[in-house]
Amino acid sequence: MKKSEKEKYLVTAALPYANGYLHIGHIAGAYLPSDIYVRYKRLIGDDVIFICGSDEYGTAIEMSAIKENVTPKEIIDRYHFSNKQAFEDLSIKFDIYSRTSNDIHTKTAQDFFLNLYNKGILTQKKEKQLYSEKEKRFLADRFVEGTCPKCGNEEARGDQCEDCGSNLSPLELINPRSKISGDTPVVKESTHYYIPLDKLQPEIEQWIKTKKNWKANVINYCNGWFKTGLKSRAITRDLDWGVKVPLENNEGKVIYVWFEAPIGYISATKELFIEKGNPDGWKDYWCSENSKLIHFIGKDNIIFHAIVFPAMLKVYGDFVLPDNVPANEFLNQEGNKLSKSKGHGVLVKDIVKDFPPDVVRYTLTSILPENKDSDFHWTDLQSKNNSELAGILGNFINRTVVFAKNKFDNKIPQRYETEKVDDEILNFIKSQKKVISDCYEKFRFKDALNETMNVARAANKYFNDCEPWNLIKSNPQRCETVINNCLQICHSLAILISPVLPTSADRILKILNKDKKDFVWNNAGEICLNHNDELGESEILFPQIDDKQIQAQINSTGMEEIQGDNLITIDDFSKVHLKVAKVIKCENVEKSKKLLKLQIKVGENEKQIVAGIAEYYKPEDLLGKLIVIVDNLKPTKLMGIKSEGMLLAAKKDKDLTLITVDKEINSGSLIN
Ligand code: 2FM
Ligand code: ZN
Repeated sequence: MKKSEKEKYLVTAALPYANGYLHIGHIAGAYLPSDIYVRYKRLIGDDVIFICGSDEYGTAIEMSAIKENVTPKEIIDRYHFSNKQAFEDLSIKFDIYSRTSNDIHTKTAQDFFLNLYNKGILTQKKEKQLYSEKEKRFLADRFVEGTCPKCGNEEARGDQCEDCGSNLSPLELINPRSKISGDTPVVKESTHYYIPLDKLQPEIEQWIKTKKNWKANVINYCNGWFKTGLKSRAITRDLDWGVKVPLENNEGKVIYVWFEAPIGYISATKELFIEKGNPDGWKDYWCSENSKLIHFIGKDNIIFHAIVFPAMLKVYGDFVLPDNVPANEFLNQEGNKLSKSKGHGVLVKDIVKDFPPDVVRYTLTSILPENKDSDFHWTDLQSKNNSELAGILGNFINRTVVFAKNKFDNKIPQRYETEKVDDEILNFIKSQKKVISDCYEKFRFKDALNETMNVARAANKYFNDCEPWNLIKSNPQRCETVINNCLQICHSLAILISPVLPTSADRILKILNKDKKDFVWNNAGEICLNHNDELGESEILFPQIDDKQIQAQINSTGMEEIQGDNLITIDDFSKVHLKVAKVIKCENVEKSKKLLKLQIKVGENEKQIVAGIAEYYKPEDLLGKLIVIVDNLKPTKLMGIKSEGMLLAAKKDKDLTLITVDKEINSGSLIN
């Protein structure tokens, strides 16, 4: 492998699937930390490229297309462009946001596959799989449903039963049927290619042992998998939608999405350098001894980035292996898990309509799930904005420039002889610069932000201690020096805060009427503004966010806004039969802290429902109560117990209340 003259950084952020909108959990997982890191690295003068794009194959996308009766291409176009825009709206700035449906990716992924195939690394195995004669295709896990052999749930998926949580294989399902056509599949054999991770384990394990600076969570996950032993993994699938297997007699087979998606990082880099007119330039980052590859991801992607992809790169040869994989845990929202598939969580495309990108970036950075899962609350966004952004950072900038405007004709006053306090604050900034750098280098972004805000805190203290409002009368020259110093500190703050708040940093420069000439990390704590230069126009950087704005978000429960394609017609609504029911018997479900089993009367009918309300109600509280239920819900099983409806309850944070009726009415009454 060659060596380029300067150390290079190749930073990637997980390629999001183009089958759903991005929510704040994705942002806090991989994209915001990587953007902050890249911005910091560039400020210290490092040579960095930042790669991302859409992951556009896989069964989930094909399934969405089937459900919506559109082509997969329509699905990926919709989400690719929407997600690209969402990143831009949050000032997350990749050098390229590519897509795995591009030709260059097909070629790169096929070349990778062939390279391993030709070296004799891939193994082959015959497998039994479900095949639909009617559709003339093999049915991937997610395309099959049937009865769970463990709990009897009649709607278990081919890979998992959502009721009892068991991992399944489609062949285990009782009465399997195709989710696409309802057809009963037959069992048929198909040959697949495998990457022998079991054989590669010793090498990978040895390599990870050398990674002393990886985050503990990442190392722990890896050690867990090593302990159980890596298994040989199938890297082909019988599907239509994907990169075709580049071998003869393999029609109908594609490369498994998790094999080709990470190769997407390479394809995207090639595309970037073709755009730059330097088609071989990508090799300086992927195939050069002093290039550092850093993968930002969420914890669900660790195995692929810390084990499978490095194994692939190793056996291909000539590639750098990841220098670090700073994976984050998950961000929840108001105590609930965020999930793209279930449509939960604040979507980026929505939050950027209501709040400035830097306010979102600041809030999320302060709660990044770096070492454990964390929680987003709307009230945090308000308090972070009002007390920290406006109260500390905005306040210092504003009081300084307003003072200069009012007392010094909006010009930078003279810097006369400085006193100890003036030098101390600048020295503090210089030392903080090192502390903050150290945090960034160790991927501790929350600490970096806190240490940066400590500079703004110290700046306010300096302003207060110097009392320029008194000095202007008692010692005008001294006052000039203090305000000059404060303006220099504003410039330093713009530099230090810019990785997290890039737009605000630009606005501070505009307020100072300063160009970007001195805008480098090393200049924090240095004198960069010239006396007598004109300042720009002052503005409030962070307007207050009031309770009403926050309440509006909370009321919409942080889910998608009710507009456009979320609206339902009266016909849709009338499909749901809401009825009044009387509880005639109620008991706890054995071995469950959450579930109660209720016998209810709905008119003349008796039914049983299982509800997750045991933490809020005792069985005896419910006897005789009139509650509201969805009467025509398909029966299901919870912990193996049949449930023939769903009761309605309102939930907020840790509170839950049942929906009841205002006065006595016959059970079975229809609600509309
Ligand atoms: O979890 C996901 O959203 C995947 N699409 C990430 C892929 S990362 C890389 F391998 F492409
Ligand atoms: Zn089950």
